[in-house]
Amino acid sequence: MNIEDILAGKPVEGLPTGHFVNGRLIPSNGGEMMESFDPGRGVAFAEFSNGTASDVDEAVESARAAFQTTWRKTPAAERAQILNKAAQLIRANAEQLAIVESLDCGKPLNEAQGDVRGAARAFEYYAGACDKLQGDTFPLPDGYLGYSTYEPVGVTAHIIPWNFPISTTARSLAPALAAGCTVVAKPAEQTPFTALLLAQLLSEAGLPQGVCNVITGTGANVGAPLVAHPDVDQVTFTGSVVTGQNVMRSAADNVTRVVLELGGKSPVVVLKDCNYERALDGVLGAIFENAGQVCSAGSRLVIERAIHDRFVEDLCSRTKAMSIGHGLRDPQFGPVNSPLQLEKISGFVDRARERGADILTGGAVTTDPETGQGWFYEPTIVGDCARDDELVQEEIFGPVLTVQIADDVEHALSLANDSKYGLVAGIYTQDVSNALSMARDIDAGQIFINEYFAGGIEVPFGGNKLSGFGREKGLEGVKSYCKIKSVAARID
Ligand code: NAI
Ligand code: MG
Repeated sequence: MNIEDILAGKPVEGLPTGHFVNGRLIPSNGGEMMESFDPGRGVAFAEFSNGTASDVDEAVESARAAFQTTWRKTPAAERAQILNKAAQLIRANAEQLAIVESLDCGKPLNEAQGDVRGAARAFEYYAGACDKLQGDTFPLPDGYLGYSTYEPVGVTAHIIPWNFPISTTARSLAPALAAGCTVVAKPAEQTPFTALLLAQLLSEAGLPQGVCNVITGTGANVGAPLVAHPDVDQVTFTGSVVTGQNVMRSAADNVTRVVLELGGKSPVVVLKDCNYERALDGVLGAIFENAGQVCSAGSRLVIERAIHDRFVEDLCSRTKAMSIGHGLRDPQFGPVNSPLQLEKISGFVDRARERGADILTGGAVTTDPETGQGWFYEPTIVGDCARDDELVQEEIFGPVLTVQIADDVEHALSLANDSKYGLVAGIYTQDVSNALSMARDIDAGQIFINEYFAGGIEVPFGGNKLSGFGREKGLEGVKSYCKIKSVAARID
C-alpha cells in the first residue's frame, strides 16, 4: 500500500469486502453494501457489507459449532501458540494495518502504528495467560474436597467503536480466545476493515475455522440482533452510554452477561509542585490524541491556581503550534471521524460561546490546510469553566479541553470527582502523599500518576459510574471470559 497513491485517490487494494464466517470471507446474505470514508479528505474510499440478522445467525452458529467441537477442547498450550503466532503476523503486517487504520479512522499514522503494536502485544500477553487459568482449592472439613475450575463462557460477542478499531478488537478478542471462547465481532460501520484483516491473520496463525467471526454493518442491522441472539453468552460493548444502556436492556432478556466500556469525562489534576514540562506534555496528549475521540481522554484540566496563568498560556501556545493534516501525512493532529462527530463537537462549543465561555484557542470547524478537505475541528481550550457547565459535565468526544481552577488540593479533588463518569484520572504532582491519597480518593477505574496513559495491556481498564462496569486488559481481562465452577465432594 502506497500512501501517495492513496492520497491521490487511487483505489486501495487488498481490503476485504465480505464478512468473515467459518474461516473465510463470504458475501452478505442481503447483498447490501455501505461505504467507508476517509475523514482526512471527507470522501468514501471503499465499500463493505452491511450485514443482516441472518448473517449474524450464521456467524453465531459457526462460533457455537467451533466452541463445542474444537476450541474449548484445544489444549491451553496450543491456544497459546496460535495467539503468539497471531502476534507475530500482526507485527509482520503492521505497516498495512496501520495505513488502513489511519485512513479509515483519520488518526495520525504514528498513533495508528502504536495501536497496531498494542494489538500485537495484546495477543502476546494473553497467549501467556492461556495456560495459567488455574482454580482454587477450598479448606473444607476432613472427608471433603473442594476446588474450582475456570471454564470459558462460550460464544462471546464484541461490539467495537470507531475510535480505536484494531486496539479494541484485539484487547477483547485476545482474552476471549485465550479463555477458550469463540467470538463474533462487529466493528463500527465507520471503520470496518482492520477487524476483517485481523480475522484473516488469526486464521493464518492457525485458529480453527469458526472460532473468530466478523460481521460488518450498522448497529441496527448487525449489533442489535447480535446482542439479542439467544445463543450468545456474553457481550463486550465499547461505545456510548445510550447504546450501552440499550445493549444492557436487550441482553437482559436472555440474561446474557455484559461488559460495558462506556464514555468518560476524565480529569487531569495538575498541582503546583508538578514536574512542569511533563505535565504540559501530558495534558496536551491526554486531550489531543486522536483529536480527543478517546473514551479515556483527559478532557478536564483541573489546575491549582498558583500555576494556572503560566501553565494555561504555555498550553495554548503549544496547542497553536501543533501541525494539522491528513492522518497519513502523520501530523500531530488529525481529523475527527465523521461529519456527525464534527457537528456534535461544534454544537457543544457554539452553545458554550453563546453562554459567554472564554475560548482561549480553537473553537471552529476547519479543513486540512494542505488540501482544504476533510472533517477537522481545531484543537480547543476553554478557560475557567464552572463545574456545572455542560462543557465540563458532558462527554464531547472531540478536541475540547475545559480548564477548572482549584484553590488547593482538596478543592482539586472535589472538582475531579464532580462527574457522572468515572473512567480514568490523571494526577501531576511530585508530592507522593498527595499523589497517592488522590489516587485513593478519585472515583475512577484507573489512575495515571505523572504520565497520562501510562501502562499497557498489563493494567486492568474499565469504568465506574456511567463509564460502565467490568474490566478489560490485565489478568482481570481474561477472567471476564471465564465462569468459575466450584466442586465440593464428600470423599470419605
Ligand atoms: P455507538 O455507541 O452507537 O456505537 C458503538 C458501536 O455500537 C458501533 O459498532 C455501533 O454500530 C454499535 N451499535 C449501535 N447501536 C447498537 C445497538 N442498538 N446494538 C448493538 N450495537 C449497536 O456510538 P456512535 O453513535 O458511533 O457515537 C456516538 C457517541 O458515542 C460519540 O460521540 C461518543 O461520545 C460516544 N462514543 C464513545 C466511545 C468510547 O470509546 N467510549 C466510542 C464511540 C463513541
Ligand atoms: Mg472510515
